[in-house]
Amino acid sequence: MLFVRLISIFALVFLLAACEGEKQTSEPRVSENSVDDSLHDDGLSVGSAQADFQVYKSPTCGCCGEWIEHLNDSGFTTAAHHPDDLALLKEQKGVGAEYQSCHTAVSQQGYVFEGHVPASVMEEFLAAPPEGAIGLAVPGMPVGSPGMEMGDRFTPYNVLLLLRDGGSEVYRHIASASEQ
Ligand code: CU
Ligand code: CU
Repeated sequence: MLFVRLISIFALVFLLAACEGEKQTSEPRVSENSVDDSLHDDGLSVGSAQADFQVYKSPTCGCCGEWIEHLNDSGFTTAAHHPDDLALLKEQKGVGAEYQSCHTAVSQQGYVFEGHVPASVMEEFLAAPPEGAIGLAVPGMPVGSPGMEMGDRFTPYNVLLLLRDGGSEVYRHIASASEQ
């Protein structure tokens, strides 16, 4: 049992390192895992432009895939992309360095959702987007947020409202796992 637990801890550390790593340096593209690199790419991704969210991530980051599953389980459709320069994409979408996480999702209306934002909070935002807001962000990767589950562990975190002027404010404080 301890052995199994150790293995999963190692796997998690590796996964986090992979996610963290791609923030600093852009990794070489793993083409056989890349489904689609552009919104207009046809072939394997027919209909991806109709998805509720376009999700930009690194092909090697596992927690991004877990978060996409969380969105899908919540009833949202998604299309994944592996851009060569994820940092550039975040910059273009207005996600400042202090707000960044592993993946970046963009809604059909053009709102941006950075990191492990709970689907319920995204739904609430999209139902009534506040004036001057470009989207939401959960900076870093809080343990226990959707896609970052580690047993019962949970670190309270804030979902930030990203403002058009580059600033932010707290949109929702998530104090426990049951609030997501
Ligand atoms: Cu992540
Ligand atoms: Cu991610």
